[in-house]
Amino acid sequence: MDTNLENIAKKIVIAIDGPAGSGKSTTAKIVAEALKYIYVDTGAMYRAVTLAWIRENKEYNEDNIIDLCKNIDITLENTSLGQRTFLNKQDVSEEIRSSEVTQLVSPVSAIPKVREILVDMQRKMGENGGIVMDGRDIGTVVFPNAELKVFLTADIKTRAQRRYNEIINKGVNADINSIEQEILKRDKYDSSRETSPLRQADDAIEIDTSNMTLSQQANYVIGLAKAVINEINV
Ligand code: CDP
Ligand code: CDP
Repeated sequence: MDTNLENIAKKIVIAIDGPAGSGKSTTAKIVAEALKYIYVDTGAMYRAVTLAWIRENKEYNEDNIIDLCKNIDITLENTSLGQRTFLNKQDVSEEIRSSEVTQLVSPVSAIPKVREILVDMQRKMGENGGIVMDGRDIGTVVFPNAELKVFLTADIKTRAQRRYNEIINKGVNADINSIEQEILKRDKYDSSRETSPLRQADDAIEIDTSNMTLSQQANYVIGLAKAVINEINV
């Protein structure tokens, strides 16, 4: 019998949603590490489908993208370099962050059948709990029964500044105004699509991170998660 309480405690599903640059993925990674849970970046999966389609070099056509989506292999693997995204066994973790992918990912991820295929994969990944998943529809569609749902927000200037800093720190030039426009455009597209739009679940806890540091927001979510885990395991 396992006498280690940590190992026998029921593991929950933590859903983190919100618009671009609200700090979902960095927060989710820290929370997963602190709880020894698995982190799943669902945005990386939609980005991988988009990259596969760009590589096909075909005209935009929903049926082609759906066919492609059925025939590609997308995996997320945890390595010493953090979580990596593989498309047909090739590590595409950097390529899926290109501005070309970023500009095309919203229309690709608005295709209902594409969502159905990826949501199915995401549900399988989280079926045993012990997961921190971030995206746009995790609390509303993928795991509507998640034990903890968090919706992160921040004002647009802050989110654009965060993305700008990220790019500049990589030694690449960037224009903060075009970053702001790209974020606004993507948020609008993601919020207004018909199938599982970006939306806060009714039972999600909203956290405005505009004036929070990354560690403040991560610690806040870890605190919420520990409270839920304790409550469930009494
Ligand atoms: O990190 P960033 O906020 O730039 O975006 P991301 O999380 O990598 O997601 C990229 C895009 O994938 C989003 O703009 C959405 O169009 C789509 N996405 C989605 O539709 N549903 C999800 N669960 C996650 C991402
Ligand atoms: O996943 P999402 O697009 O919501 O955001 P992210 O990729 O987790 O965060 C975007 C950038 O903002 C990262 O470089 C974070 O380190 C940074 N960030 C920050 O500076 N302060 C915060 N309170 C949260 C995130």
